[in-house]
Amino acid sequence: MKGVYFLASFLFLALASSFASASDPSPLQDFCVALNDTKNAVFVNGKFCKDPMLAKAEDFFFSGLNVPGNTSNQLGSKVTPVNVEQIPGLNTLGVSLARVDFAPYGGLNPPHTHPRATEILVVLEGTLYVGFVTSNPDNRLITKVLYPGDVFVFPVGLIHFQLNIGKTNAVAFAAFGSQNPGVITIAKAVFGSNPPINPDVLTKAFQLDKNVVKYLQSQFWWDNN
Ligand code: GLV
Ligand code: MN
Repeated sequence: MKGVYFLASFLFLALASSFASASDPSPLQDFCVALNDTKNAVFVNGKFCKDPMLAKAEDFFFSGLNVPGNTSNQLGSKVTPVNVEQIPGLNTLGVSLARVDFAPYGGLNPPHTHPRATEILVVLEGTLYVGFVTSNPDNRLITKVLYPGDVFVFPVGLIHFQLNIGKTNAVAFAAFGSQNPGVITIAKAVFGSNPPINPDVLTKAFQLDKNVVKYLQSQFWWDNN
């Protein structure tokens, strides 16, 4: 009998934790404007919350997403995030936004993942070749060429990218199912970690010559977001 109770409790806990980690927790009050100092804090659910009576319109506001990001960099792209860091009123609400600008002829938002969010992207200008790769064992590549007005979804945690294949600038807006989706840029995380991963690890993992690994480790200093 004890075994049955143990199994039932285990299953319940497993289910509860899988639901809990599927997305940001639901808010337990109307809003929870994030605070960095705790002097005026009342609740904790994500970040410290400001006393709701002290909340003001500015806490829920961001301006400037009409301004193109500067794409004069190695990748020819720029991500301008609007998440809980920019809008403290997003705290606990489970959504955020980004503008992504791409230079003509190959501006690239390189392969990356968002550990905490699904992304939905709408193209406003230009032509983007986009894709994501499914998890093991299939690692299936799913791609599409997008034009203005087209919308594409990148499921949570999957590696994805966007490449401008047009002759003009491209602009897209992305929405995320998290106040803080997080970004792991694959090449930068692997070859540009701080401190660097032991080259022996990368030599074997990527089946490369150690000098190639060292060369790659010297290259990944860039940042487009
Ligand atoms: C696009 O994929 C983005 O994460 O901004
Ligand atoms: Mn993304």
